[in-house]
Amino acid sequence: MSSSILDTLVSIFTVAIAGAFPNVPFMKAAVNPTSPKQEKFGDYQCNSSMQIAGILKDAGEKIAPRDVAKKIVDNIPSNDLIKESTIAGPGFINVFICQKYMVNRIGELNNVGVQYDKSKSQGRKVVVDYSSPNIAKEMHVGHLRSTIIGDSIANLFEAYGYNVERINHVGDWGTQFGMLIAHLIDLFPDYDKNVPRISDLQKFYKESKKRFDDDEEFKKRAYENVVKLQSHEPAIHKAWQAICEVSRIEFQKVYDRLQIKGLKEVGESFYQDKMNAVVDQLKKRNLLEFDDGRYIMWAPGIEIPLTVVKTGGGYTYDTSDLAALNYRVHDVKGDILIYVTDMGQELHFRQVFAAASKAGFYDAAKTRIEHAGFGVVLGEDKKKFKTRSGETVRLVDLLDEGVKRANEQLLERGRQEELNEQEMKDAADAVAYGCIKYADLKSNRKNDYVFSFDQMLDIRGNTAAYLLYQLTRIRSVNRKVEGKITEEEIKKVAASGAFDLADPREFKLAKTILRFHEILTQAQRDLLIHPICEWMYELSNAFSQFYDKCYIIEKKDGKEEIKVGRLILASATASVMEAAFKILGIKTLHKI
Ligand code: ARG
Repeated sequence: MSSSILDTLVSIFTVAIAGAFPNVPFMKAAVNPTSPKQEKFGDYQCNSSMQIAGILKDAGEKIAPRDVAKKIVDNIPSNDLIKESTIAGPGFINVFICQKYMVNRIGELNNVGVQYDKSKSQGRKVVVDYSSPNIAKEMHVGHLRSTIIGDSIANLFEAYGYNVERINHVGDWGTQFGMLIAHLIDLFPDYDKNVPRISDLQKFYKESKKRFDDDEEFKKRAYENVVKLQSHEPAIHKAWQAICEVSRIEFQKVYDRLQIKGLKEVGESFYQDKMNAVVDQLKKRNLLEFDDGRYIMWAPGIEIPLTVVKTGGGYTYDTSDLAALNYRVHDVKGDILIYVTDMGQELHFRQVFAAASKAGFYDAAKTRIEHAGFGVVLGEDKKKFKTRSGETVRLVDLLDEGVKRANEQLLERGRQEELNEQEMKDAADAVAYGCIKYADLKSNRKNDYVFSFDQMLDIRGNTAAYLLYQLTRIRSVNRKVEGKITEEEIKKVAASGAFDLADPREFKLAKTILRFHEILTQAQRDLLIHPICEWMYELSNAFSQFYDKCYIIEKKDGKEEIKVGRLILASATASVMEAAFKILGIKTLHKI
């Protein structure tokens, strides 16, 4: 099973439509899974008939949608997926999936694990810009969201074989560095020998700002530093590097804990020279307009212009993103560029994409460029997430709190009886970080979201805590048959497809398992992760219902019978659930 049932059905019905109506311009069939309430009418539904009847009517040919449906059904090419197609209502085609097909796919999952269709990704590169905190400033919950969402989007594309570049576009450039450097030189004259021990960068930032506002001489030095930094004067450049290093160490603490790997820092400073070239190009193409001392650029369809060069010659956030986009398309050779930031930057990215397209930096037909925006993080009081005293919450403190609570939960459940000290620690970390990630990912990223430890750790809700426990439960099914059947014997049954899905709960579970690629393909299309979480929860519920009623060992005439198909279903459930956790960036454990 490397591609989705839905995709296969779309292909089958597309062929059927083309065969039935050769005169109708090519169209992709519209197929959807049926909702749980309508499952008795079919597993999937094709509803292209109405549209085709409409097209034919416009062309002067009158045909009822039901008759269209009938013709489509008559033209379905031979396949091993569809058991039956029936016509309902005004012309819906209800599709029942063949049990044998599902048995084979489930068996395959048991024997070879989850496979990904890599036919569309070969040689294609995806650049995901995420996390991207600012040097010398606190990494805040917004950056946490970006890190979690971005990492998961990157994992998703990577699983399907794309060459993924994870870019940390840190804010490491700008005039604020003038004052930070001046303050650093005063406080840590040996900054070029030892990493300055700035324990609180936020405080350091505030102190420099205060001096900058109050002290004229300091302000002058700050301005001079900006010029010196831009002309790469070694001492000043070193001071800048020292400040970046302090921040980097702080960021890394968060990344280590959340297991964020492969994120490459290519900050704003990297585009310094590239911005000159970009501005030259824009000027040459007459795309810049001189406006009251600065250069602006109008992007098609957007009322607010980009500021490309400030009064006095400096560049802006717009300029650096134009240069970054150009670089990612032409030098990195990205086929898909994704930017994960808060929704507050939506206009900025719309401007940058539209301006870059106008300037010919990319061709929208060849390169997919998208802003994956997310809403703000709110506290439980529905106000912006802050500490009680109104400060930005430090991420390390937040993570500590999560681990503390997860540990308390484990103790409450008496897990210390079974887990040793190290296992307890691993479990608390996995539950805490898993819950923080899952809570973020399960809500539609476009909406604001309420950060609540109580909710995210609730083992009865749709949380990572619940799903992680559920996964260990699923994995432990095998223990019931220990010594009674070998792995080899199970594999044989799986390979030959010698089991059925006769119980409706078995059938439902199998069907849910096999939606895996459908859900993941849609997630790639929409850059939305929450449907994956919804599906995981559905899967978990389907498993519970199955497990409650469908016994692994059945007693028949006083004899024990092992239902191998059920073992296989459980293992397939665990495989897809684990694969989904991996994409969400959530670590699973054998013992929890
Ligand atoms: N540093 C920015 C911030 O903290 C995010 C940068 C996002 N990436 C980009 N290419 N603009 O808001």
